Amino acid sequence: MRKNEDNKNIAVIYWSNSENTEIMAEKISNGIDETGQKADLYNVSQFPIERIEDYDKVALGCPSMDGEALEKNTFEPFFEEIESKLKGKKVALFGSYGWGNGEWMRDWEDRIGHTGARLFDEGLMIKEFPDDAGRHACVEFGKAFASF
Ligand SMILES: Cc1cc2nc3c(=O)[nH]c(=O)nc-3n(C[C@H](O)[C@H](O)[C@H](O)COP(=O)(O)O)c2cc1C
Repeated sequence: MRKNEDNKNIAVIYWSNSENTEIMAEKISNGIDETGQKADLYNVSQFPIERIEDYDKVALGCPSMDGEALEKNTFEPFFEEIESKLKGKKVALFGSYGWGNGEWMRDWEDRIGHTGARLFDEGLMIKEFPDDAGRHACVEFGKAFASF
C-alpha cells in the first residue's frame, strides 16, 4: 500500500452516539483506503490531541446535537482545542442529522473558514441511518478527499 507522498496520513475523527456518524466515518475511511492512501480512524475520545500535528488532512465527523450544534461535552471542547491548529490543513466535515435543516453543518463550515484550513467540498450530511446510497456517498466522499 502506498503512503501519501509526504508520508503524512489522513485522520478521520468522529463523535457518535447512536452509530450513524460512526458508520459514515468507517465508510469514508474505507473510501480513502481504496485510493491506496491510509486513513487513521479514531473515535474522538481515543484521539491523542497532540497527534493533530501529524496529519495534513483531517476528516471530522459529528452529528447535529443539542439544537443545531456540535455535541457539547466531548466534541465541541475537542474542536475548540484543535481549531487554532488547523491552519494550512485540508479539512472535510461530515455528520448525521435528524429533523433539522443542516444549520449545524453550515455553522461548522463557517468556523473552518476562520481557521485558515482548506475546506473540502460541502460537509457531507446524511439523515439518520446511512442506507446503501448514503454509505456509497460516504465511500465516494472519502475517495475524493484523498485526492483533494
Ligand atoms: C440530544 C439530541 C439532540 C439532537 N439535536 C438535533 C438537532 O438539533 N437537529 C437535528 O437535525 N437532529 C438532532 N438530533 C438527531 C441526531 O442528529 C440524529 O439522530 C443523528 O443521526 C445522530 O447521529 P449518531 O447516530 O452519530 O449519534 C439530536 C439527537 C439527540 C439525541
